[in-house]
Amino acid sequence: MRIAVGSDHRGRELREKLIAFLQQSGREVIDAGPNGDGDVDYPDVAEAVARQVSRQEAERGILICGTGLGMCIVANKLPGVRAAPCYDDLSAAISRRHNDLNVLCLPGDLMGQRLAHRIVETWLSTPFDGGRHARRNQKIADLEQQNGHH
Ligand code: RB5
Repeated sequence: MRIAVGSDHRGRELREKLIAFLQQSGREVIDAGPNGDGDVDYPDVAEAVARQVSRQEAERGILICGTGLGMCIVANKLPGVRAAPCYDDLSAAISRRHNDLNVLCLPGDLMGQRLAHRIVETWLSTPFDGGRHARRNQKIADLEQQNGHH
């Protein structure tokens, strides 16, 4: 599974720790940065990561800003992207089972490393339930089509 990971300046520290954690557990990571120390506008990074997921160049994306919220708002503009913030492992598990969430947004300012790793591990290992949830996701895809997002 290829996972694209990006952050803004507020999420940089957690991103770096998360990438090390993912690589240690044998996952393929595409690091979307940022590399420098300066401030970064979260829409730029969210667009880059979400585009990779939208084009299926990455199977999953993880985006970290201060709250996870700005990243989420941007990522959902890209077709086929289902992004949301998860703040605990229960919401992470349900986001996979019900929503087939393919972009996880995390709050670098509000979350410690251990909780973040636990959420990510749960999110990566929980499958989509399909069934009635697939029908609902199809309605979301139809909405994108109707609005020209394809
Ligand atoms: C940047 O200061 C901050 O607004 C950003 O990291 C994020 O929390 C936005 O949603």
